[in-house]
Amino acid sequence: MLTLFQRADHLRKGSHELLRGKILATLFYEPSTRTRLSFESAMLKLGGQVITTENAKEFSSAVKGESMEDTVRVVGSYADAIVIRHFEEGMAKRAAAISPIPVINAGDGKGQHPTQAMLDMYTIYRELGRIDKFKIIMVGDLAHGRTTRSLSYLFGKCKNIEIIFISPEHLKIGEDIKEYLDRHQISWKEEQDLNKVLPDADIIYLTRIQKERMSQEQYENGKGKYILTPDKMSLIKPTARILHPLPHVEEIAIPLEMEQNDPRIAYFRQAENGLYMRMALLEMLLNKRIKGTKDTLPLE
Ligand code: CP
Repeated sequence: MLTLFQRADHLRKGSHELLRGKILATLFYEPSTRTRLSFESAMLKLGGQVITTENAKEFSSAVKGESMEDTVRVVGSYADAIVIRHFEEGMAKRAAAISPIPVINAGDGKGQHPTQAMLDMYTIYRELGRIDKFKIIMVGDLAHGRTTRSLSYLFGKCKNIEIIFISPEHLKIGEDIKEYLDRHQISWKEEQDLNKVLPDADIIYLTRIQKERMSQEQYENGKGKYILTPDKMSLIKPTARILHPLPHVEEIAIPLEMEQNDPRIAYFRQAENGLYMRMALLEMLLNKRIKGTKDTLPLE
């Protein structure tokens, strides 16, 4: 992780031609602003090119019944790497199992969003100056939030982290994550009272209630329970940072001026970090075959 973070720090300084001649294919079967555009921008900034299918769920040959396996076999002969976002959990893994080229999971249903976790950790590294010894609160829809699931997995590689999960009763983090954290001796607990734990937190990681993955009744019962307001901001220490994978909706209710000027609000810097982290990831995956350039990441 630290090698990638240092590489992302280097790549953010200027444009590079490290992936000239390489092609990235982006296949998004679910909506995205940040993940897709930052991957595409990352590839272009590295001198590569991008091919894409606009709204793959509607406009790719998946509509005609083509399997993911056949799709990646074909796209694998047109590109050097594929970025896939899919509504079905495990689909990126299925694609990777058959693909002749690297497949990056850009979010699979309520499963995982690993590159988001990498950029979240990179943001913690930049904002706190460390990736261990901190207390994090994860708030919101933890049952469907793939970003909190993937970030929890990364915490298994860190030391002295305390996690507090806060969610509506029916939207708690999965048992698989709790078991994983126990296995890696990461301290975690569940709480209901956000005000009680805010003053001690170093990172407050907010998430939205994922309306599209639940019934209207579940949504109504979950929304509005945990909202960041100016009152809550007054409980948060000056050195703490507020992260959110975005998009944010009603769970953040602070004035625009506070959002723009309060240094504790880090989620737009976090979104920008996604670009540099994805540049570092693409370079790691694709540049190892490029000969004769001095500006390469040591991979061994
Ligand atoms: N954080 C994130 O995955 O955002 P998008 O859905 O806009 O890609």
